[in-house]
Amino acid sequence: PTTPLADAHGRRITYLRLSITDRCNLRCRYCNVRGTFKWLPHEAILRREEILRMCRVLGRLGIRKVRLTGGEPLVRSDVVELVQGLRSIPDIERVSLTTNAVLLEDKAAPLYEAGLRHINISLDTLRPERFQALTGRDAHRRVVRGIRAAVRAGYHPVKVNAVVIRGTNDDEIRDLAALSLELPVQVRFIEFMPVGQDTGWSPDQLLSGEEIRREVERLTGPLAPVPRGRDAGPAAVFRAPGAPGEIGFISAMSRHFCADCNRVRITADGRLRLCLFSDEEIDVREALRGMDSDAALADFFREAVLRKPSGYAEQADPGQAPSCRRAMSAIGG
Ligand code: GTP
Ligand code: 5AD
Ligand code: SF4
Repeated sequence: PTTPLADAHGRRITYLRLSITDRCNLRCRYCNVRGTFKWLPHEAILRREEILRMCRVLGRLGIRKVRLTGGEPLVRSDVVELVQGLRSIPDIERVSLTTNAVLLEDKAAPLYEAGLRHINISLDTLRPERFQALTGRDAHRRVVRGIRAAVRAGYHPVKVNAVVIRGTNDDEIRDLAALSLELPVQVRFIEFMPVGQDTGWSPDQLLSGEEIRREVERLTGPLAPVPRGRDAGPAAVFRAPGAPGEIGFISAMSRHFCADCNRVRITADGRLRLCLFSDEEIDVREALRGMDSDAALADFFREAVLRKPSGYAEQADPGQAPSCRRAMSAIGG
């Protein structure tokens, strides 16, 4: 019998966040794809067969859920085939995707047919001009059409991720929350995290989940907690009275969820990151390309996850916010 993945702090690792490309079709201000930024060369990116082999091995080691991220995962041309391939691995129970939805209108149905059931969509503003200022592209309408297409295609619940930045979009908290009163979507407010260099992050731009919730409740009245399911992630989820949708809070900065962390990340160039905030990276690509034996690869992963830090407190200088150098566009959140 195979020993499942567990770290040195007794946490079972069951969830992989897999970045399938570092490229993106937006230029969000808080991401770093600007200036001197260089894309990874094509041959550095894990190929589909490499990804599927790796996930078969990880499935046998207890990974149950794989979330595809980017960059923007829909710019990768074989994303539908990737989903299909992942869905055919019996140990992987759930495949999900985090996208900016710019290309979703055309991809929502084919992805659903390929077996995808869970889509999280990044959308920080409902105002087209502000969307352009924040992302560098006039694509707001396409994103909204993408969200509608996802709801129509049958994904449930569609989750909408909004990173809240003081002075930038905190005046839209109630408008964003109102989406959950009209549509069966889960609107999730995310605390702004210092991930990557030159992202313009500063502590005064951070609004805590508590502050955001008070603002939401000015619109909705008291929110009722939705019971946490078996694979509940970092979001605390609530519902407004009578609403078709839900409202979630991802308080990554103020409420440390590290004690329950079940996840690892793999970058598009095949580097295993054991914690979002730890810049330690383990070269999986070399292992994949160098080891013919799946058993050896499994041992490699089992040993690697033992290095997972107990939480981001370990990464942070005392009194400082945790941060990491690698860009969000390479890690995928
Ligand atoms: P679900 O599977 O739907 O629960 O997804 P998720 O919320 O884990 O994933 P998503 O890609 O939608 O990410 C939402 C936000 O949560 C992003 O800002 C991520 O960076 C952040 N996030 C996800 N997992 C972690 C984590 O383990 N630690 C920290 N600090 N942030 C995380
Ligand atoms: N802090 C918090 N969330 C972020 N995301 C991107 N950058 C940050 C940041 N600095 C979010 C995106 C996307 C998810 C993967 O991570 O909006 O929804
Ligand atoms: Fe897990 Fe690191 Fe996120 Fe904590 S900060 S929840 S350990 S990935």
